[in-house]
Amino acid sequence: MTLWGGRFTQTLNSLAWDLNSSLPVDQRMAVQDVDGSIAWADAIHAAGILSDEEHASISLGLATVRKEFSSGQFSFVPSDEDIHTAVERRLTELIGATAGKLHTGRSRNDQVATDFRLWMLGAIPALDAALKDLQSALVEQAEKAGETIMPGYTHLQRAQPILLAHWWLSHYWPLKRDRSRLTDLIPRVSILPLGSGALAGTPIPVDRVALAESLGFAEPSQNSLDSVSDRDFAAEYLFCATLTGIHLSKLAEQIVLYTSAEFGFFELSDAFSTGSSLMPQKKNPDVFELTRGKAGTLIGMLTGLLATLKGLPSTYDKDLQEDKAPVFAATDTLLAILPVITGALRTISAKPERMRAAIDSTMMATDLADYLVNKGIPFRETHAIAGKAVRLAGERKVGLEQIPLEAYQALSPAFEANVVQVFDPLKSVEKRNAIGGTSLQSVKNQIDRVKRLLSFEKS
Ligand code: ARG
Repeated sequence: MTLWGGRFTQTLNSLAWDLNSSLPVDQRMAVQDVDGSIAWADAIHAAGILSDEEHASISLGLATVRKEFSSGQFSFVPSDEDIHTAVERRLTELIGATAGKLHTGRSRNDQVATDFRLWMLGAIPALDAALKDLQSALVEQAEKAGETIMPGYTHLQRAQPILLAHWWLSHYWPLKRDRSRLTDLIPRVSILPLGSGALAGTPIPVDRVALAESLGFAEPSQNSLDSVSDRDFAAEYLFCATLTGIHLSKLAEQIVLYTSAEFGFFELSDAFSTGSSLMPQKKNPDVFELTRGKAGTLIGMLTGLLATLKGLPSTYDKDLQEDKAPVFAATDTLLAILPVITGALRTISAKPERMRAAIDSTMMATDLADYLVNKGIPFRETHAIAGKAVRLAGERKVGLEQIPLEAYQALSPAFEANVVQVFDPLKSVEKRNAIGGTSLQSVKNQIDRVKRLLSFEKS
């Protein structure tokens, strides 16, 4: 049974049927579809379309359908074109012809947009919780890192020493922004399309404010044409998911690099690394490589939906059926990745001695320039002097700390014996004490702040 056979004399070609059917994808919104129908039945009952008896029968029937879905007992039949058809078909089996009154004043166009938004309002907190858990793991590692120093890079070239804790927390903040982006999206998802009909609005005098409230939406949509065709929320959601994927990918890339023998800054726990079928020595960071790889897939899903939306004539077009698969897949992707990398990062071990060994005194060249700045020389000049010292060290194949004082004084008479202190990486770190810098105090403040934020969010 289709919901639209009246004007047709032939049945739909079976391959066209398969192409048209959306059940494999939209059955995931079964509970939301039933909830939307229960609320719609209430609304059209209040508007005088359903008698008390009909309303009671439909509500009871829908409650049974809902139970069948949540207990996994619902069976689909081949004629179920989509989730909306399946629910109405089952309701008809349960209560008979009265089921046919449920769709009065409603269209699958406002129905599907409602189901999808309801589904997303449930998915956002699930993603948020998974992101928060990853943030907690990062903060735990930052606390564990203590005073460990590692090289900080720009252009993947050794740049300046930083605290390992500072590095861990650098991955906390993007996730904080990702979470707030997701939360910011809620008011735009929480707008009810139901009651917009196919496009022009419903002829039933339903109280859409009450309907919105009963389904947990903030407000009803104000323009039926926009309401059935708007998929901005899906594009925004995919953007949020994709940007999170990109943040995870950047983090993953660093773990891949830093667990290599060349860096050796971290070692993955066995529980989160994989072996090679050929090379017995291999311990591979597959879960981080997959995280990196799936970011590419996420970008594709976002781009795909945007391309689908571009240039669609107003209002509902069947192209819009393509909206759900990428949103579901992106959600599944993140919910699969997040707990795994959270576990992997909770159990990764840092190798402070390898990090320390990767710091050489040229990484304190900026501190050398700053040393002369403290003697009153303009930074532009001190930068050039420090550069000459680096060149000299390179020529002599020694570290900056091994250049004798006389050679320094030949570069600038302002150098004194205490210049050697500049080459202590901890001193370099400690000088960066302004808010957001890598000094011990500054990072401690950062950890305190982040822990307060995380515990505040719990309540
Ligand atoms: N399966 C459709 C979708 O996902 C439901 C809406 C169908 N509307 C229609 N007029 N055929 O968009």
